[in-house]
Amino acid sequence: MGLEYSAVQWNRQKRIYDFVLAGGVGAFLILFAVISKVLFPFVTDEIMLIRAFAAAAFFLLHVILCIGPLCRLDRRFLPLLYNRRHAGVTMCLLGLIHAALVIITYHAGGDTNPILSIFRGSPITASIAGVPFQPFGFFALVILLLMAATSHDFWLANLSAPVWKSLHMLVYVAFGLLVLHVTFGVLQAEVNPVYAVATGVGLVLVLGLHLAAAIKEAPTDRGHDAAAADTGFVDACAIADIPQSRARIVCLSGERVAIFKYDGKVSAVSNVCQHQNGPLGEGKILDGCITCPWHGYQYVPETGASPPPFVEKVPTFNVRVMNGRVLVHPKPNPPGVRAEPALIATAESQALQTA
Ligand code: HEM
Ligand code: FES
Repeated sequence: MGLEYSAVQWNRQKRIYDFVLAGGVGAFLILFAVISKVLFPFVTDEIMLIRAFAAAAFFLLHVILCIGPLCRLDRRFLPLLYNRRHAGVTMCLLGLIHAALVIITYHAGGDTNPILSIFRGSPITASIAGVPFQPFGFFALVILLLMAATSHDFWLANLSAPVWKSLHMLVYVAFGLLVLHVTFGVLQAEVNPVYAVATGVGLVLVLGLHLAAAIKEAPTDRGHDAAAADTGFVDACAIADIPQSRARIVCLSGERVAIFKYDGKVSAVSNVCQHQNGPLGEGKILDGCITCPWHGYQYVPETGASPPPFVEKVPTFNVRVMNGRVLVHPKPNPPGVRAEPALIATAESQALQTA
């Protein structure tokens, strides 16, 4: 959490994550080299290395893209998400090594500038279909380098969460470019169906998981726009629907709102964490604070402000409790502005008195 930018702490969880990541990449590269030597004994070591680093980068990109929807479908995948940026930077490095090896092997020997040579059509730089496939890889690499360079929390704090998030959504453009890079490149030259099948399975998996997560979340996004006539408050959910010290996420006027039940009270805040837009409504109340499930940023439920000395703030929403239902006003209060929590016991006894 940022009072101001401070260096990242290396904790045990991060060390385990990086150890598994480095071990996984090393094992992939060794396995790829061994299988290549068996299946394609005439391929030179340079080309085998080019392919090994390319395949490792492309595979890791698939894993990275699947983590988000997997976490939406099942919370048990959350530990994979915490340091996903480490996997992103590793993937970028693998892609960079692949590109550097390609440039040294294919493009550095002639009179043409090696980077310009990537864009020139030649028997190596064009696929069988005549489409120059390497520029797709080049532009994907530019995006990946930009993302890796801005992946640190320093940039998140300076660019602001929405700008940073938009920048990092470019990963999907990079993925599309790489699918074209592989489809027009290796798939058309390679007769072994393993490549086509692996690329197809990867694409279907990434698209399928994103679709499944979107379908799962569709009821939340459909919204609760049946406004309670004159007051403007919207019937959001039943109190009983919210687990103790946790939240229910609803969509009001296109914005996701997390409604928390804790200590006999109900409060509502924006569902979007100020750190990296994590889903606050999937977190819980710890030490009296809403605690983001992604990296543990905390917010006071009544004010949406992080406890001092931290300075993050999320918008709050006015709430009421009536006849066992939670009513929320869809207009957010400015970030950090206190919204009086609705007291469950008081509201219920009022309901009993009027009955
Ligand atoms: C300047 C950027 C790039 C250039 C010039 C380039 C060039 C090439 C070339 C020439 C090949 C064919 C290699 C061969 O089989 O002989 C290739 C294959 C491939 N590239 Fe790239 N590439 C670039 C960036 C990337 C990046 C960033 C990735 C992934 C993150 C990537 C993923 C792949 C994959 C998966 C293959 C197929 C590898 C295989 O045969 O198993 N490329 N690339
Ligand atoms: S997104 Fe990182 S703590 Fe919320």
